[in-house]
Amino acid sequence: MKKVLVTGGCGYIGSHTIVDLIDNGFEVISVDNNSNSDLRALNGIHEITGQRVKNYTVDLCDYEKTEKIFRTENFDGVIHFAALKSVGESVGQPLWYFENNIISLLNVLKCCKEHNVENFIFSSSCSVYGNAKDLPVTEATGFSTAECPYARTKQMGEQIIEDFSVPNKNIKSINLRYFNPAGAHESAHIGEASKHPPTNLVPVITETAIGKRDSLTVFGDDYDTRDGSCIRDYIHVMDVANAHTKALQYLLEDRNESNCEVFNLGIGEGVSVLEAIAAFEKVSGKKLNYILGDRRPGDVVAIYANMDKAKSKLQWECKFNIEDIMRTAWKWEEVRSESVLQN
Ligand code: NAD
Ligand code: WQD
Repeated sequence: MKKVLVTGGCGYIGSHTIVDLIDNGFEVISVDNNSNSDLRALNGIHEITGQRVKNYTVDLCDYEKTEKIFRTENFDGVIHFAALKSVGESVGQPLWYFENNIISLLNVLKCCKEHNVENFIFSSSCSVYGNAKDLPVTEATGFSTAECPYARTKQMGEQIIEDFSVPNKNIKSINLRYFNPAGAHESAHIGEASKHPPTNLVPVITETAIGKRDSLTVFGDDYDTRDGSCIRDYIHVMDVANAHTKALQYLLEDRNESNCEVFNLGIGEGVSVLEAIAAFEKVSGKKLNYILGDRRPGDVVAIYANMDKAKSKLQWECKFNIEDIMRTAWKWEEVRSESVLQN
């Protein structure tokens, strides 16, 4: 059985990926300082898989403690999710974002080198593309100026890994550029449970529908798109999760073409904000209270992925669509609200 370290394993995408890894026969260890999560995610994983995943409550910016984990366990691979991810927060506190996201990455890479962990996967983001002109974006599309310090940490992260891979030829790495992950596990035992009030579209929709918010503002209906609202590539979190398993298998089986590769991770289709709302209303049977408002500063008009590379090389395909995303996100919102009422 191959043993994998998942950093940020109590977080949104990390917890879903642990479920998929366990389903595919991997042994998983998590490390998470719970700065944006708590240990309840591990209970949810236990409910789904029947397995208790060990979590080291360690800040990856602490090299000594991080190195001790690598010394204690013997990993075949690392999937590095741990990072701060709020765009707005990164604008206000750039140094905190650079410190957390870069130092933790450097420490994990140093430990991989020190302990000969040869398979490494990094959570990157479509935000590295900035305001890309040609759609859909392929992996060959260059970086544009980062819209915020958070996005810059992802650009820097990818560049650090690329430079690291030059002298460390035995270590294979993949940067996965996620587009807009959303939705929850079908069971609703795990889902997005950030400590910050959400700003992403899908949780804002479900919070509005459940009554935690009065209304949702559509940020701009006068863009040059088919209905005037912005277009994004929403991908179900379990599809994102499965792509990590497939990427890890790809590395473990030495199918990689170089020792540092990049893959887009989206559904490969654009969905507008108004279309996303319509999908939610259809699957939930609820009318959403929303207003058409001003554009949000910094928003990209439209972005979606060309997915040919991941599909052919990782032998991975999306199983879910925007309606599945809304259905599972809504179920998760309802279950969470019920448990809050009961406690
Ligand atoms: P999340 O906040 O739910 O999970 C990240 C986890 O990392 C949290 O549990 C947090 O407590 C932990 N963490 C942060 N800094 C740490 C540190 N120094 N030491 C130990 N643990 C630490 O976020 P997520 O949505 O699951 O995102 C996972 C990764 O995917 C991140 O790198 C994020 O930037 C990237 N990403 C997310 C999205 C998205 O829309 N969710 C899109 C693109 C990329
Ligand atoms: C989606 C669309 C909004 C809320 C962010 C990060 C990016 C990546 C994914 C991490 C946009 C519109 C939203 C609302 C709205 N994360 N919207 N009303 O901005 O595409 O990407 O998450 O790497 O780096 O920037 O996602 O969910 O915030 O917005 O109209 O209340 O929904 O304008 O068009 P975004 P989002």
